[in-house]
Amino acid sequence: MDAFPRTTTDQNPNDVVFTPVEWARDIVGFFQPSGTCLDPCRGESSFFDELPEPKLWCEITEGVDFFQFDEKVDWIISNPPYSLFSRWLDHSLQIADHIVYLIPVNKLLSSLQKLHKVYRFGGIAHIRYYGTGRDAGFPFGFPVGAVYLKRGYEGPMEISWYPAAAPTQ
Ligand SMILES: C[S@@+](CC[C@H](N)C(=O)[O-])C[C@H]1O[C@@H](n2cnc3c(N)ncnc32)[C@H](O)[C@@H]1O
Repeated sequence: MDAFPRTTTDQNPNDVVFTPVEWARDIVGFFQPSGTCLDPCRGESSFFDELPEPKLWCEITEGVDFFQFDEKVDWIISNPPYSLFSRWLDHSLQIADHIVYLIPVNKLLSSLQKLHKVYRFGGIAHIRYYGTGRDAGFPFGFPVGAVYLKRGYEGPMEISWYPAAAPTQ
């Protein structure tokens, strides 16, 4: 039997992992989005439920495909499908001014091509580390962080830690 349930869209099962509500709550509380917010892949709504109004959502298993969503929004906050990350990032950079994605940070930091795209958009304003993927029940052990990409940003990149993931003395 599969470790992760397949969906009606027969997606990569590793893309269908849901963020712990406490992490989603911390991320939204920390970054304080305002204006129109979008969760582009809401899954079971860990992030969507925490976002302030006005808010919009997509979710392929409910027939709403992010790649067909072309409205401009102020903020995107979510945990995207990792196997589509490159294309997902490109589309996000087109439609939002502030983007926070909970991702294995190596998905972004180990790719010069993706970093160039992000720095043409603005830059990485902040990374808030949450632990390893396994801490949240995701099927990988890489460090996971909420990476904040900000249009037109020219300042330094800050780092913070979810309390349970902070380095001990
Ligand atoms: C890593 S899960 C995260 C779900 C939720 N955002 C969370 O943090 O718990 C990725 C989600 O993306 C959805 N998804 C995959 N492709 C999509 C697409 N093209 N448009 C919208 N949602 C998509 C999957 O069905 C899945 O629910």
